[in-house]
Amino acid sequence: MGTSALQWSDEMSVGHPVLDEQHQLLVDLANRVKTLFGTDARAAIDAAFEEIVKYTIHHFKFEENVLRAAKYPGLNGHKKIHKKISDSVDDLYAHRDTVTPEQLYSTLYDVIIKHILVDDIKFKDILSAR
Ligand SMILES: [Fe+2]
Ligand SMILES: [Fe+2]
Repeated sequence: MGTSALQWSDEMSVGHPVLDEQHQLLVDLANRVKTLFGTDARAAIDAAFEEIVKYTIHHFKFEENVLRAAKYPGLNGHKKIHKKISDSVDDLYAHRDTVTPEQLYSTLYDVIIKHILVDDIKFKDILSAR
């Protein structure tokens, strides 16, 4: 992971404007955490973490509803992946008093940004076709 900010790009688009907007917001949150690297700004780290937890729950729920409405055949598998991600975010949250911005970022990157590029991208065709 470099030090430059993550950039939203068309290759991250999943063919649904609201989901794309929400994903962009997750990228923004990751970039916000990145600006805290090397600091021990607890209040700022905590605030970013709270938002990440809340927003991830909100986004997953919304996305699952979109996929249900689109009759996405991979819905159940996708829900399981969301559950796993939520669990790993929760695990880290349990240590929020000592978590560093670098740890938070790497979890965000692995479970959220990679999830968009690897898993969410799979429903692009079905959503784009609607
Ligand atoms: Fe997503
Ligand atoms: Fe997802």
